[in-house]
Amino acid sequence: MTFEEELNATREGVEEVILSYLPKEEGFQRTVLEAMNYSVKAGGKRLRPLIMLETYRLFDGHTRVIEPFMAAIEFIHTSSLIHDDLPCMDNDEYRRGRKTTWKVYGEDMGVLAGDALLMYAFETAASAFSLHENPRKIGEAIRILAEKTGIYGMIGGQTLDVELSGHAVDKDQMDFIYRLKTGALLEASMMIGAVLSEASKEDIETTEKIAAKIGYAFQIQDDILDITSTDDVLGKPVHSDEKNEKTTYAALYGVEEAAKKVQELTEEALSMMKHLTGENRFLENLFLSLVRREN
Ligand code: IPE
Ligand code: IPE
Ligand code: MG
Ligand code: MG
Ligand code: MG
Repeated sequence: MTFEEELNATREGVEEVILSYLPKEEGFQRTVLEAMNYSVKAGGKRLRPLIMLETYRLFDGHTRVIEPFMAAIEFIHTSSLIHDDLPCMDNDEYRRGRKTTWKVYGEDMGVLAGDALLMYAFETAASAFSLHENPRKIGEAIRILAEKTGIYGMIGGQTLDVELSGHAVDKDQMDFIYRLKTGALLEASMMIGAVLSEASKEDIETTEKIAAKIGYAFQIQDDILDITSTDDVLGKPVHSDEKNEKTTYAALYGVEEAAKKVQELTEEALSMMKHLTGENRFLENLFLSLVRREN
């Protein structure tokens, strides 16, 4: 099997897991359920659950305990996108090849759907208690999920990102924004895969560092594509950063320099993977493929 074939097959499996955890669209709160499911079902690369699953496999994990966490991380990520697109944030009308959630369901439902999806993610993750013989590991995985989502994670990063729109951003601020708004959920993905497969403390710490580099590279590539791609290829509007006067790595250092940085960070991450107790060629290839990703 080529890498592409393996990626497609694995992604199909991931997709099935995610969809299997979606709530039923029924009851008086049906509108918010429809809005939540609308954005999840719109697709996306499913990168975070893919990385979580492959990290779990890297350390020989082989049960279904990882599945509720795969769904949970994708729900959290999707909730961050629903809120990121709101008029009070990036004010974008197009996401994953469709109208954004707030454009279809209104701003009120956009806020509620993001909140609901975030809470539902934790409800989903907690269902793993019935799938693992060691409840401490589930507790630890949920703690990581919360930490990397909240004020010390994605939300902390988004805070500085929106606050500094229209302002100059120095290197420390940029590092903070990229590490948290994007890096943190990737860190959670790898760390949870490692925790649930009972990896050692050192290995868990190394996965956090690897994912931080991959996350940084991933956001730089996102900024490059915002400049160089098209709406159709991306499934979201290009030039969103310019519109919102965001100081991005690509705008600051130029696309060419930014592309070099993506390559460099990825190589650093790959060399760190050699220190892990275990290996996963597919995961390495997945990281490599992100350097040249077009959407
Ligand atoms: C977009 O994430 C937001 C960033 C952190 C750059 P993705 O590029 O993973 O979006 P989807 O899930 O594929 O839509
Ligand atoms: C957002 O970064 C990262 C999130 C936590 C949602 P961007 O604002 O650049 O993401 P896109 O380009 O809208 O997907
Ligand atoms: Mg944003
Ligand atoms: Mg945005
Ligand atoms: Mg972007």
